Amino acid sequence: MNRRRRLYEGKAKILYEGPEPGTLIQHFKDDATAFNAKKHDSIEGKGVLNNRISEHIFDRLGSIGIPTHFIKRMNMREQLVKEVEIVPIEVVVRNVAAGSLVKKLGLDEGTQLPRSIIEFYYKSDELDDPMVSEEHITAFGWASPQEIDEMMALALRINDFLSGLFFGIGIRLVDFKIEFGRHFENETMKIILADEISPDCCRLWDIETDNKLDKDRFRQDLGGLIDAYTEVAKRLGILTENPTNEPSGPRLVTSNE
Ligand code: TMP
Repeated sequence: MNRRRRLYEGKAKILYEGPEPGTLIQHFKDDATAFNAKKHDSIEGKGVLNNRISEHIFDRLGSIGIPTHFIKRMNMREQLVKEVEIVPIEVVVRNVAAGSLVKKLGLDEGTQLPRSIIEFYYKSDELDDPMVSEEHITAFGWASPQEIDEMMALALRINDFLSGLFFGIGIRLVDFKIEFGRHFENETMKIILADEISPDCCRLWDIETDNKLDKDRFRQDLGGLIDAYTEVAKRLGILTENPTNEPSGPRLVTSNE
């Protein structure tokens, strides 16, 4: 069905050539992976939910002046984005101890951190995305000192804004992972937020119950992933009816599907 040129296929998304030069189409798959794809499954409806949730979050971030690659949502699974050169660094921001930080430092899960902590991971499937320092990043030329400063400043603004946004709907933003890209326009280069922000790359806990509303449901075999993501979407106010129910009977086929 897709006659567009596929440029890149990742674990949870596919990037296609966009309709205009300098644009791409980001397609959200139902694939769920963990532990560098050693654990893999397909969870029907996840891509549709992540597309909607990420659209909403990027839209809100754009409205407070965070530069992002997001242009518009095209359909249930796809969005139009600006083409960027991805900085090969995953930026993780943590507010509460969980996941790999708990394992590394022997903290109790759920411990409030003394302040928000930023970590960097080098994007390399072969190496399982190792944690790296600013020294590694600049020495190996993955990003310049100025780019690191920009990414850190944006990451902290994003954390402040999203912590408040989620707190307002009864969810604790425990941690999240974001990626940045270099966007070239009129011979200038700007660091902008790229990729996605969804429950796949955040830890979101219900404030009342500590119930996990994120991909840890898959990582830890807790089940109920779609219900959890649907709950996040509902609380964000972006669920009209049943966003995961893609039409199954006869339907109009539009050009951008
Ligand atoms: P971690 O505790 O496993 O290091 O994860 C920190 C945050 O980053 C958590 O919100 C999940 C997210 N994350 C990703 O989005 N992709 C990854 O590959 C990993 C390891 C974590």
